[in-house]
Amino acid sequence: MTSGGGKRVLELNGIVKDYASEAGTFRALDGVDVAVDQGEFLSIMGPSGSGKSTLMNIIGCLDSATEGAYRFDGVDISAYDEKALAKLRNDSIGFVFQQFNLLPRLSSRANVALPLVYSGVSLKDRNARADELLALVGLEGKELSRPSQLSGGQQQRVAVARALANNPRLLLADEPTGALDTKTGAEVLALFRDLNAARGVTAVIVTHDPGVAAATNRVVRIQDGRITYDGPPTEQALAGVGHAYDPA
Ligand SMILES: Nc1ncnc2c1ncn2[C@@H]1O[C@H](COP(=O)(O)OP(=O)(O)OP(=O)(O)O)[C@@H](O)[C@H]1O
Ligand SMILES: [Mg+2]
Repeated sequence: MTSGGGKRVLELNGIVKDYASEAGTFRALDGVDVAVDQGEFLSIMGPSGSGKSTLMNIIGCLDSATEGAYRFDGVDISAYDEKALAKLRNDSIGFVFQQFNLLPRLSSRANVALPLVYSGVSLKDRNARADELLALVGLEGKELSRPSQLSGGQQQRVAVARALANNPRLLLADEPTGALDTKTGAEVLALFRDLNAARGVTAVIVTHDPGVAAATNRVVRIQDGRITYDGPPTEQALAGVGHAYDPA
């Protein structure tokens, strides 16, 4: 399914992920097909253990699939080695995590500028870009604050600014509102919405929260490693009932 006919950012075909252990092999993803176009705002929902984080890790090139094909920006990356995947991650994907994952001893500015160090940007340009991004997420005046001097919502805004530092093709978030109270979570969600609507940032959010999924334009539901729904965030889809998956 597409939204506005944008260019394809990523495409997974027949993705299988097996985890091996002493107990045997566990199939966490069992033939997942999903494509995301530029400008989409998509949520991935499903019960605990359904495979959401496994899918996120593959989409984010933090892990590779056992079987299946992955195309990112039109390039088949299925056979990329760890080094090539690391470069793709730094250049093209911005991550936001539930627990913010900021470096506690660094200022907001330095946290946001960090990904640019690996991209070879000069210190002056890194700082200018970091301050611009902090202003974008509503944190003007907090450039020199450390994470401990910021509220949870402000820390997550720093994390979003950091995720945007390299102007990524894809913003990927795993339960970005999970550690926040309802009101603060809603503000962070509104930030994602703004970035998507006003700046065309392509975003994929993993969430347990039907309220978060309802704010996105497309919901992918996953159960036992298979997609069971892919479509608009209707009430039924958010509740996880009805709507058999129609791959056509
Ligand atoms: N490293 C691993 N080794 C073996 N099994 C794993 C591993 N990681 C995940 N699994 C299994 O794969 C399945 C999917 O796990 P995953 O973490 O993707 O679920 P999830 O949907 O993110 O759940 P939650 O909502 O609780 O975060 C689970 O049954 C889990 O036990
Ligand atoms: Mg998970």
